[in-house]
Amino acid sequence: KNIAVFASGSGSNFQALVNAVETNELQASIKLLVCDKPKAYVVERAANHSMDVFAFSAKDYPSKAAYEMEILQKLKDYEIDLIILAGYMRLIGDTLLQAFPGRIVNIHPSLLPNFPGKDAVGQALSAGAKETGVTVHYVDEGMDTGPIIAQESVGIAAGETNESLQAKIQRIEHGLYPKVVQTLVLTKI
Ligand code: GRF
Repeated sequence: KNIAVFASGSGSNFQALVNAVETNELQASIKLLVCDKPKAYVVERAANHSMDVFAFSAKDYPSKAAYEMEILQKLKDYEIDLIILAGYMRLIGDTLLQAFPGRIVNIHPSLLPNFPGKDAVGQALSAGAKETGVTVHYVDEGMDTGPIIAQESVGIAAGETNESLQAKIQRIEHGLYPKVVQTLVLTKI
């Protein structure tokens, strides 16, 4: 099966997926990185693995539909079966949702429906939560609202800092995401 990863930032989850393909833990092919921040570190990571990248700036297009049409053409060119969002900081619009029903997934650093949206780790700390975690879910038109596929929790220790909690959560993400994607590859598509 052919995967496209969408990311906007450092791409540590992208890296975890690439590594899982290389060790055969994830039996799929990551054909394309789609990135809306041409200078993001994830673009370098893709280059290090000679992977193709479609980088774009939303401001160069008149609308979300316009840039998503272009993304969709790339996804067709690469015969993509599954879209994996890994820190892609944009809502997916109708163009892609309709073309890939049930085939777009996201990872979010909280136990959804708690703490959706930006800075989920900071939100959990400010709320004084005793635990938080990671959620993998299908993507719909909302912000972090689609059906949940898998969750893993992590305790918030006394004196926990944003940095220490972030590190714990990322460790969980890097283990969980490739496993869940492998399950989807075997069962869903
Ligand atoms: C992750 O925490 C993910 O849950 C969220 O964005 C972050 C991306 O981090 N959606 P990275 O770019 O994969 O390091």
